[in-house]
Amino acid sequence: MKILFIGDVVGSPGRDMVHEYLPKLKEKYRPHLTIVNGENAASGKGITEKIYKKFLEDGANVVTMGNHTWDKKEIFDFIDDAKNLIRPANFPENNPGKGIVYINLNGQEVAVINLQGRAFLPPSDDPFVKIDELVTEAKQRTNIIFLDFHGEATSEKQAMGWYLDGRVSAVVGTHTHTQTADERILPNGTAYISDVGMTGPYDGILGVERDAVIKRFLTSMPVRFEITKEGRTQLNGILVTIDKSNGKATHVERILINEDHPFFG
Ligand SMILES: [Fe+2]
Ligand SMILES: [Fe+2]
Repeated sequence: MKILFIGDVVGSPGRDMVHEYLPKLKEKYRPHLTIVNGENAASGKGITEKIYKKFLEDGANVVTMGNHTWDKKEIFDFIDDAKNLIRPANFPENNPGKGIVYINLNGQEVAVINLQGRAFLPPSDDPFVKIDELVTEAKQRTNIIFLDFHGEATSEKQAMGWYLDGRVSAVVGTHTHTQTADERILPNGTAYISDVGMTGPYDGILGVERDAVIKRFLTSMPVRFEITKEGRTQLNGILVTIDKSNGKATHVERILINEDHPFFG
């Protein structure tokens, strides 16, 4: 079983990359399930119903979120109907939406979970406590469990990877928008990467217009962050191959498409 995951899609440049390359990636890698992180899909902040549906149309099966989940207020109107959209499971209990979804692939279920870290991010419930609950729940139905752990600190993400080694199929980090080269399979069969990276502008700073970010550093004054709309773009992802019989990862491969790393079909 192969699962393709695409890192934080930023604005229209990111959505255009998904539209252009997801069909090509599917043709090349033949994934059984495709997951896209969409927390920045609407101009860098949140997601709309239209964009969520477009991701599904372009070939995603699940859309995950992060700290930008609630940025577009219209999410409150559609999140309860968006059955394949998940937000961090360790948001407070009273929040709308859900943090786990089960996808049925010809009788084989896959659990996809979204969690958010607590280092340098807004307060949330303990992700380590929450994941124990969710893994116990998911194991009743399937041993193929895929986690998007949305976090800033590499240490927290590595801790989660090792904490879950052998209990889930994959722990992939998102949020920093910078792909790390530490993809591996941990000793007990969990695929791991600290951060998948982002999909969108290639020449911005984490997808944001450079001048504004630099001005912020030079002046310490508030500035308006806009995403970089013009210019070169990139797609960052990861492909995990899993042994269906036991849920353990057997192969993990980073995907990086940009002008310096062109795509070969
Ligand atoms: Fe992000
Ligand atoms: Fe984020």
